[in-house]
Amino acid sequence: MKYISVTLCLLLFAASVLAQSHSIQSPNNKLTLTFSLSAEDEPTYSLNFGKKPVVLPGKLGIEIKEQTSFLKGFKIEKMETSLIDVSWDPVWGEVKTIRNNYREMKVTLAQTSARNRTMILVFRLFDEGFGFRYEFPEQDFLDHFVVTDEKTEFHLTGDHKAFWIPGDFDTNEYAYSETKLSEVDAEIGRRVGEIFTRSVISKDFIQTPVMMKSADGLYINIFEAAVVNYPAMCLHINKENFLLTSTIAPDPVGNKAYLQTPARTPWRVVFVSDKAADILGSKLILNLNEPSKIEDVSWIKPVKYIGIWWELHVGRSSWNYADVNNVRLGETDWKSLKPNGRHGATTERTKYYIDFAAEHGFDQVLVEGWNVGWEDWFGRWKEEVFDFVTPYPDFDVAELQKYAASKGVKLMMHHETSASVTNYERRMDEAFSFMNTYGYNAVKTGYVGKIIPRGEYHDGQWMTNHYVRVVEKAAKYKIMVNAHEPVRPTGLHRTWPNWLACEAARGNEFNAWSQGNPPFHETILPFTRLLGGPMDYTPGIFQIKMSFYNPDKKEQVHTTLAKQLALYVTLYSPLQMAADLPENYEAKLDAFQFIKDVAVDWDDTKILEAEPGDYITMARKAKGKEVWYLGAITDENARTATALLSFLDPKQTYIATIYTDASDAHWEKNPMAYRIDKYVVTGKTVLKLKLAAGGGAAVSIHPASTDQMKGLKRY
Ligand code: NOJ
Ligand code: CA
Repeated sequence: MKYISVTLCLLLFAASVLAQSHSIQSPNNKLTLTFSLSAEDEPTYSLNFGKKPVVLPGKLGIEIKEQTSFLKGFKIEKMETSLIDVSWDPVWGEVKTIRNNYREMKVTLAQTSARNRTMILVFRLFDEGFGFRYEFPEQDFLDHFVVTDEKTEFHLTGDHKAFWIPGDFDTNEYAYSETKLSEVDAEIGRRVGEIFTRSVISKDFIQTPVMMKSADGLYINIFEAAVVNYPAMCLHINKENFLLTSTIAPDPVGNKAYLQTPARTPWRVVFVSDKAADILGSKLILNLNEPSKIEDVSWIKPVKYIGIWWELHVGRSSWNYADVNNVRLGETDWKSLKPNGRHGATTERTKYYIDFAAEHGFDQVLVEGWNVGWEDWFGRWKEEVFDFVTPYPDFDVAELQKYAASKGVKLMMHHETSASVTNYERRMDEAFSFMNTYGYNAVKTGYVGKIIPRGEYHDGQWMTNHYVRVVEKAAKYKIMVNAHEPVRPTGLHRTWPNWLACEAARGNEFNAWSQGNPPFHETILPFTRLLGGPMDYTPGIFQIKMSFYNPDKKEQVHTTLAKQLALYVTLYSPLQMAADLPENYEAKLDAFQFIKDVAVDWDDTKILEAEPGDYITMARKAKGKEVWYLGAITDENARTATALLSFLDPKQTYIATIYTDASDAHWEKNPMAYRIDKYVVTGKTVLKLKLAAGGGAAVSIHPASTDQMKGLKRY
């Protein structure tokens, strides 16, 4: 049931009290947020957790071009507070209903030093953190302005442990570092050869979200929500006093954002709790985003898919059709090229994947390398690479549409833009119409390379607008989107629920062809990247060592096979891939059963244990079913995960199918050893799951009849 209770108190201040500070408390009264004006009439704020300071007084302000900046010389015109408590149901998600409960403080400021220009600061204080944004209402002396930088301060209380990636305006595909704030050296980003397009800022800059832990056990995270018409935010660390200051991605002429009143920035967010699980369970980012702009959402459905994909990354087949390196869109006669004999996206191979999807209950088959242009797509900063509508001669799109439809499966479209975004924007309508004609309803987009318009960054204002233009247009064609290499998400999937997922972090693919993702990687992602939205991580790799494909290869996935199963539960996404080759699943159908069964949409989520960088155990209830799935993962250390199943219906008995690491499993030495056991369980059962180094466990829990339980032991 939806309910709303709002108390509004409007306080108008006499000149004499304007300088005093104003505080609000979170609905549970644990957090206190204080706003005040400094001696120079600069807006400042601070945050306490109980009596403990979390954010010390820090300044708020925006620098603009050719006019007085929004930094100081303010007086408080109006102060309004309210309490909001409403609930809403997401189209898909980790829980069925989301409660949005916060206390708001809206401070209207007049800049006396600049013709009384108005800026409004809106603070929303939740139980597990706050968001605030700058708003610029329409007014006489402010219409258009250019932001040259944002100077929001987050003044932390000490040298916290941090999980961070280098501040970079072009990529978020770094491995995480775990160091104290004072030990951050983002220059390491310049040496990461496997990420081709990088724009590292400099040594003291990190990206958000940054997950931290204070010496006295507080979990703190700085992030942002609803990045629309504004660049993404990075943070500069002052290592003397732990003052973190925002900076935002510039455009080719060095400006950062072009705003026109009425305007507002994204929300600046700080999470804090003494329980790590509160950060994982928080819906604060979604709550700070606008409700769905799509009225009819009936066509938006979570997707479980396979694809001609991992075989490309492990070098089994190729995206390109011919081995030439100079082709021209609209001119090259593709039929006259000699096929290289290794092309992955052939009609025949696609049919094999469609058959496999149909047999095992997958919704879609992604096919990469189906369209002309892959011979000459990479690293040239070339504008006209793909047209998104011309298949290679050996990919019969009409025939495949019929074949897929006859098997109840859909093909998933792939639009690698090669970061030539101007080209993509020109061709988007035609590309989406083509998808409608051939029965596709989901597209994986990609932005590998340096952006065109040349000089723009992946995280700049022009690009954050582009990603939204794509999902907006896609919605008109009833198309769902999965964006690779975009800016990291900030909850906009609430507003655009057809934006099912993004990559926007280091995915499993790095394990195929680089040093890969260290075993603790997946224990950090939910505390960082996933706070902004679902990730297309592409789990489910069973053939862990790449030497399987080529004896010279040293690369490997840095987990056990059982941990790959657990990721379907611990890394939330309504779009999940079974990423390995069908052949590798055929060889282990018993373990594959978990991937076939696991849900991709949920009524409820319970975080049972969590520590960033170390371990996560969580359970989720499948949407509309009395069936639960549990995932437990660990870092490079073996450990036992403990799970009390008290979330189960107390009147019901269940069968738990437990997929765990074998006793001698180890992510490096013996990653593919697993076992599967079945037990009878109830809400009183405490599972003790042994996780190998780099290991994990996955459990499916179904209600069972007396008949089904015959011969099974109680756990
Ligand atoms: C990078 C993407 O992350 C990957 O999934 C895709 O296969 C390649 N680009 C080619 O588009
Ligand atoms: Ca990528």
